[in-house]
Amino acid sequence: MKATLLIQHIKTIYTPYKTPPVHGKHMNKIKEIHDGFIAIKDATILDFGVGNGAKYIDNHTVIHDAKQTIAIPGFIDSHSHLVHAGSREDEYDKINSGVPYLDILKAGGGILGTVEKTRKAPFEALYHQAMKSLDHMLSYGVTVLEAKSGYGLNLETEVKQLEVAKALELAHPIHIKHTYMPAHAIPLEFANDREGYIVSILEDMKKIKELKLAGAVDIFCESGVFSLIEAKRILSKAKDLGFAVKMHADEIHPLGGAGLGVDLHCTSVDHLMAIKDEDIDKLAYSNTVANLLPGTSFYLKKDYARARHMIDQGVAVSLSSDYNPGSCPTENFQFITQLASRELHMTPYEILNATTLNPAYHLGLSETHGSIEIGKYANIVLLDAPNISYIFYHFGINHTKDVYIEGKRVVYQKQIVRS
Ligand code: NIG
Ligand code: FE
Repeated sequence: MKATLLIQHIKTIYTPYKTPPVHGKHMNKIKEIHDGFIAIKDATILDFGVGNGAKYIDNHTVIHDAKQTIAIPGFIDSHSHLVHAGSREDEYDKINSGVPYLDILKAGGGILGTVEKTRKAPFEALYHQAMKSLDHMLSYGVTVLEAKSGYGLNLETEVKQLEVAKALELAHPIHIKHTYMPAHAIPLEFANDREGYIVSILEDMKKIKELKLAGAVDIFCESGVFSLIEAKRILSKAKDLGFAVKMHADEIHPLGGAGLGVDLHCTSVDHLMAIKDEDIDKLAYSNTVANLLPGTSFYLKKDYARARHMIDQGVAVSLSSDYNPGSCPTENFQFITQLASRELHMTPYEILNATTLNPAYHLGLSETHGSIEIGKYANIVLLDAPNISYIFYHFGINHTKDVYIEGKRVVYQKQIVRS
């Protein structure tokens, strides 16, 4: 079989190759191929290896010269709050001077401030704001993104957010996985009736399922937000309805959300800055992935998750941006990887597994995404760097040269290709 597209002159191809979820010490294993090629047939990888791949060329093959850049699988950002209205720079001084994040929420700001704006925003405004974010993400090499609702906190606006994300998916090359997150905060109209809000969530989940607007349900399990018991109740119902489940867990207080997440077979438990040791052990013996979000620690000036200890204990780790207006306002995924290197003390190979194959696994995509492998989608990022370590060392800039999604070049010479 001949290639429709052949990428030649790749300095080094780096790809995960272990069976996911890649746990503990296996995360430090990556296949390296020097002076290589990647042959693509339509949307998928036909072959890759050392040499120029000349045997895959016929009259119809398009040839791209990688010009001695390095190739990795497309980044997978498995935790974002993509669709929301406005921004929260008005809170920046408070965050910067140490006012606790949960105090801002308690006073009716934080998430609730964004809820107010998102409820009022027209579909088009949400669409255009998120489209701009997707373009930024793509330019940094993100090829798959998980996007949560959670700024509606009523059925109408949650549906609007999810429908915006669905519409964006049709218009943008980034592949989007959709998550319903009604338990992100208690909305003001239910401030004195949490039971009433929880009952409404249990009802609304059925509607979201019927409308096929999301494949997963997430919850913010935290002191003063949703308790462990409430998380168990909501996520159990979500599972009964056929959703995958995941949690914002142990972000600020060590409630034991990660342990509950393992018991509920969550696909991932996210944040974990305050995780208990016993729950690290529990995670290590499970297929629940620890999804770490160092950009949030950076922005909120909080402790970083103990990634080194987790990996040394055998946990499977992924890394995500948590892009949102209140705790991590950046779409720069490479900065997230640079924080993982510097603050989470993860190795370059661990970071690569944590941003490609492990997130593909917990999003249910690892059969088709997350590594450079024959038959998988040709989602490839060419980085203008001499080796993989360089992109973590030379921080704060964008190393992406070209991005391919499903065999199509969607970023060329740092510019988004509009089709
Ligand atoms: O993952 N922790 C809760 N939710 C988001 C923040 C959302 C917001 O502040 O708007 C997070 O950090
Ligand atoms: Fe989040």
